[in-house]
Amino acid sequence: MILAIETSCDDTCAAVVETDGRRALSNVVHTQTEHHRYGGVVPEVASRAHLERIDGVIETSLADAGADLAQIERVAVTVRPGLIGALLVGVAAAKGLAFALRLPLVPVNHLEGHVAAAYLTEPDLRPPFVALIASGGHTAIYSVDNSHNMHLLGETLDDAAGEALDKGARMLGLGFPGGPALQRAAQGGDRERYDFPVALKERYNLDFSFSGLKTSLLYKLKDLGEERTREELPHLAASYEAAVVEALSRKLLRAADLHEAPVLVVAGGVAANALLRRTLERECEKLGVRLVIPPPELCTDNAAMIGAAVPHTPAIAYPDYLGLSARSI
Ligand code: KG4
Ligand code: ZN
Repeated sequence: MILAIETSCDDTCAAVVETDGRRALSNVVHTQTEHHRYGGVVPEVASRAHLERIDGVIETSLADAGADLAQIERVAVTVRPGLIGALLVGVAAAKGLAFALRLPLVPVNHLEGHVAAAYLTEPDLRPPFVALIASGGHTAIYSVDNSHNMHLLGETLDDAAGEALDKGARMLGLGFPGGPALQRAAQGGDRERYDFPVALKERYNLDFSFSGLKTSLLYKLKDLGEERTREELPHLAASYEAAVVEALSRKLLRAADLHEAPVLVVAGGVAANALLRRTLERECEKLGVRLVIPPPELCTDNAAMIGAAVPHTPAIAYPDYLGLSARSI
């Protein structure tokens, strides 16, 4: 069994995963609510909250799995990218546990973890495939080869998709995190009422840009004024959400076409979005392409996905990891 730890942002996470990385036996996520009143994640607050919670979250993950420490064969932890202080709390906990138990330690890249959530979702899945990662910090498309090496095909030139949703939601006076708040506000709204721009539409371009979309919402809100904005809220939210979803699905389907991918994987927090899921399900069915999108709780940050990346990640033998650090990028 693998004990996995993830603390790269504002969720304190631990999970127990089968050794083959294909089944989660537990998956504990403590979401820090301390940030809500600031309207965004405050790095120093995140580090302190991780420190307070990490031991309890690890204990709960073992208890939920019905496992004890003697059954753990490897400890895995997110080492990059993320908030440096937040990452270091997870890395220190993982090093301490692995050292005390004389186990190897597996340093996992958070983005590879997001993609690996697909293996927990459909345990028969084998690469190659094309993967979209859309989260609060990243938006990129990768070609994942037979050996699970990830090759970058395109990425955002400015904001990440989740960031665009979070900032849009903030402009609309909705809560944080913005993605789920925007999705709720968009219910019953007309997605075609406002024509928000989708950037970089050229056929061979697999990059994204969301800064124009954000600016366009800002000007629209100035035009409308406060009262009309309130009345139009569901339509504004629906049209804005639709523009983000169109950008993501258009580029992913284009990548599938250009790379003749028989399988598409969608990962990261934004993959929890219901409109994105419906849109891609419909299009992939038409094209006869297999689509793997983890359930929402495996799309947003969690430690089970970090455990799922272990079979594809070189381990560091005991005790060579004592000098291991984290990296923000
Ligand atoms: O992967 P994640 O949990 O953390 C990062 O690594 O960034 O992604 C968080 C992002 C946030 O921007 C959040 O607004 C977005 O995922 N998100 C959603 C939904 N749930 C979370 N966006 C759209 N619809 C959702 N249901
Ligand atoms: Zn993430």
